[in-house]
Amino acid sequence: MIKPHGSEQLQPRFVYDAARNEALQKEAEGLPSLLLNSAAAANAVMLGAGYFNPLTGYMNRADALSVAANLHTTAGLFWPVPVVNLTHDASAIRGAKRIALRDPNVPGNPVLAIQDVEAIEEFTEAEISAMAEKIFRTLDPKHPGVSTFAGLGRTVVSGPIEVLNFSYFQQEFPDTFRTAVEIRNEIAERGWKTVVAFQTRNPMHRAHEELCKMAKEAVGGDGVLIHMLLGKLKAGDIPAHIRDAAIRKMVELYFPANTVMITGYGFDMLYAGPREAVLHAVFRQNCGCTHLIVGRDHAGVGSYYGAFDAQTVFDEEVPAGALEIQIFRADNTAFSKKLGKVVMMRDAPDHEADDFVQLSGTKVREMLAAGMDLPMEFARPEVARILMGYYQSEAAG
Ligand code: ADX
Repeated sequence: MIKPHGSEQLQPRFVYDAARNEALQKEAEGLPSLLLNSAAAANAVMLGAGYFNPLTGYMNRADALSVAANLHTTAGLFWPVPVVNLTHDASAIRGAKRIALRDPNVPGNPVLAIQDVEAIEEFTEAEISAMAEKIFRTLDPKHPGVSTFAGLGRTVVSGPIEVLNFSYFQQEFPDTFRTAVEIRNEIAERGWKTVVAFQTRNPMHRAHEELCKMAKEAVGGDGVLIHMLLGKLKAGDIPAHIRDAAIRKMVELYFPANTVMITGYGFDMLYAGPREAVLHAVFRQNCGCTHLIVGRDHAGVGSYYGAFDAQTVFDEEVPAGALEIQIFRADNTAFSKKLGKVVMMRDAPDHEADDFVQLSGTKVREMLAAGMDLPMEFARPEVARILMGYYQSEAAG
């Protein structure tokens, strides 16, 4: 099986030993504690689940600056996005060697992880901006990722962590949330060798479905890992339980049996386009996939990124050999009125622009919000029914 990024074996930061986990929970109650922001909590969940292998915890100031500027830690590890624990107020943990990290997303703020504090440092305003500009390629405060990042604080608390639970993800999505460890194990059990990962934050429309099928076919894949984001999204994106139900229906009815794993991961969407695509590749390698589909405007928002920037970043910013996972570069995928099916536009060179119906998650959401029926070019009817039901219930309050 494909190796994890940066090490021979996956080294998840979750404490699997039940007795030790319990002992750490007890210890945590007596430690100074820090209430995490959602981004830092999501980082902890990803570290715990093995997705951020081989990182052991939160980066310090120098590593975060180095990763943002040139995609490597100061020790030379390839990594695309700073993994940081930023806060506005470190007064409660000053001088502490070991601290409890509390979960902002679960009522009562239970302890999510224990951190060994290596350093508490300050970023300047200019450094925060420089990092944001590198990560998001913009400083526009209207960009949801930029505004979130700018609001996380200037104080960075670095050091390794041990993770005690998977926040709200395991309880809320018991059938879908999976760790990288679990996914690797299941891929091995299924005997799959070539596995195509599909990143999504949307219910899957027809282009998504066909992309999975075309990519699997093109690489001679044994199966597809549908890997949906279960964490926080910007306003207007569709909640995870609705997306999950829609995806399950589509797979049940329109994919051959035993060719798809429906899974999710606990991370907040960054909307960082190209940089997020590279992060996506890192953590799909960690869960044992050989390929990642990257299509049009992957992890994008608004018109901040060129349609295929998330593909060209792999030529421009990822050194040869840095990753083992391969990128399946999907062209714009649209419904051909001439052929009566969904195709990649590069596969229909004789078509004019008018011969296509363009498909996008944004358009699907706009149509649903306007109370319009989703036509069959956009979504499978059974999927459309789930989505329209959700929008109607939202409209009814
Ligand atoms: S994302 O933010 O998670 O990337 P989304 O769930 O819409 O958004 O997309 C999942 C994947 O499908 C991404 O790789 C994206 O580039 C690709 N994709 C979505 N729609 C199209 C399309 N019409 N043509 C080509 N690729 C697409």
